[in-house]
Amino acid sequence: MKKIVSFIIICICQLSLFAQPQKIKQHLTGFKNLTVVKNLSGLQIIGTGKIVDPYHYSIVKSELFNKASVSCAHPLASMVGAAIMKQGGNAFDAVIATQLALAVVYPGAGNIGGGGFLVGHTPTGKNITIDYRETAPSKGSRDMYLDSAGKVIPNLSVLGHLANGVPGTIAGVFATLPYAKLPMKTLIQPAIDIAEFGFVITEKEASGLNATKESFVKNSTKPTAFVKNSKWKTGDTLVQKELAETLKRVRDLGQKGFYEGKTADLIVAEMQRGKGIISKEDLKNYKAKARTALTFNYKDYSIIGMPPPSSGGIIVLQMMKMIAQKPIASYGFQSTKAVQLMVEVERRAYADRAAHLGDPDFWKVPLKTLADNTYLKNRMANYDSTKATPSTAIKAGIINESDETTHISVMDAAGNMVSVTTTLNGGYGSRTVVGGAGFLMNNEMDDFSVKPGVPNMYGAVGGEANAIEPNKRMLSSMSPTLVLKKGKPYIVCGTPGGTTIPTSVFQTLVNLLEFNMSAEDAVNKPKFHHQWLPDEVAVEPSFPAKTIAELQAMGYKISPRTAIGRTEAIRILPNGKLETAADKRGDDSVAGF
Ligand code: GLY
Repeated sequence: MKKIVSFIIICICQLSLFAQPQKIKQHLTGFKNLTVVKNLSGLQIIGTGKIVDPYHYSIVKSELFNKASVSCAHPLASMVGAAIMKQGGNAFDAVIATQLALAVVYPGAGNIGGGGFLVGHTPTGKNITIDYRETAPSKGSRDMYLDSAGKVIPNLSVLGHLANGVPGTIAGVFATLPYAKLPMKTLIQPAIDIAEFGFVITEKEASGLNATKESFVKNSTKPTAFVKNSKWKTGDTLVQKELAETLKRVRDLGQKGFYEGKTADLIVAEMQRGKGIISKEDLKNYKAKARTALTFNYKDYSIIGMPPPSSGGIIVLQMMKMIAQKPIASYGFQSTKAVQLMVEVERRAYADRAAHLGDPDFWKVPLKTLADNTYLKNRMANYDSTKATPSTAIKAGIINESDETTHISVMDAAGNMVSVTTTLNGGYGSRTVVGGAGFLMNNEMDDFSVKPGVPNMYGAVGGEANAIEPNKRMLSSMSPTLVLKKGKPYIVCGTPGGTTIPTSVFQTLVNLLEFNMSAEDAVNKPKFHHQWLPDEVAVEPSFPAKTIAELQAMGYKISPRTAIGRTEAIRILPNGKLETAADKRGDDSVAGF
């Protein structure tokens, strides 16, 4: 079951660190607390023989664990989460530590300059949802990305300082802390140590940093750790001293270490140098919010998801309820009949999105109606199993979203389940690194409807519900999801992927609940996506040719595309083992014990 797909062994570039083991041992306090420190300091998942060593690590795609596990986008962050649980933390501790570690080891989407959503479930049966989505700055306005002729100014909402929403992640981890057992200083220390002493980067990270170099330089006002004269290579060490100092301020001063004082000063100074509009008041006033989980029953299962301002939970609910009316398992996995049905429910759910969904603190979201069984039955009234329903026959529209987000799934031995999706929006966000603070800012403002009712530069249409207003949260598709089976913990899953997120979660759930797949197959099998507009079915490269040909004959336009999502899933098997899978599409990796 266990699969190690790659090894990263770095020697030459680490000679200076190997030469001073005492120094490293002394400084890597977070590791020391958690580990048997060996020659090179490492954080050990005690009793498993696994060391969290930022200079030597491997990617593990799938494994069965007895008690607790983590799946996320980077091996080091998964291992940090598992080690935290091994030393007495629960799944909430692990998700905090993993998230903070991801902000260091996965700068493309792990973040403290972005935002996210958490869905949790405790052994007492309590559902927890925390919304730490970014907000529009108080100086933000509906037409801020339009020129005097009312045209969208290309890239203004995507690159640089004006694209930044007020970050929510640090408020989010502090809002999670009451459910955790260990102090923040323990949970944040591994991230501090990895930032301060560095970690070796993977091939994918090296190529991401190289491809983004010019953009970092153009959109940042100070030198950054992500840019160096020569090209990044696999196995280079990325050291982020400024980020380590920022994280230390959070460790020592709590949430104020980010939203007030020196870090806030650095953010605002960066804004002033780059014509951004986030103010000290915006930072001080930022609040994570507890929301009411969106729950529904699907056959023997209860599914728990994130309500608005994410569209994810309600879209997944709509799609699951629409297929519940049909015997999809009998159609067979990837059969034309099953795929066609799923495409049509995707089309209908996404068509509702722009018309009705936005920040519920600013827009009346008709959640009850959208989730109503009769409403959804009527939504399928014009479904025809022999041909495509043209999107012109379905009302409403959608906005464009970037694919680069990241997900963490965690389960512990006590029965806590936590699902977190977090993002900078685009890969490496707005490419603006906060000078002196060492972290990337999001470009989440692009998730608003930049020009409501009119197709944006990508040809997608956004709605009034998601128009820009000061302090409003932009609509998201992030869909951190939990499943209970007969009331007991069963599945944790989620994925990045912009607007493809709800369909990836939907297809992963259908794979697990209807097609009886392993967690590994459920996340890795090729996916497809329809989002109402454009009226086409996007398919991953290895999608079966026969199904594609039959769908084309029924009137579907098929668009081949690159990877859809990077799903992380954990499922409890009948024998109690945690079947833990990390998506094959990236460096994603599992850890546990
Ligand atoms: N930025 C991706 C999302 O929020 O869905």
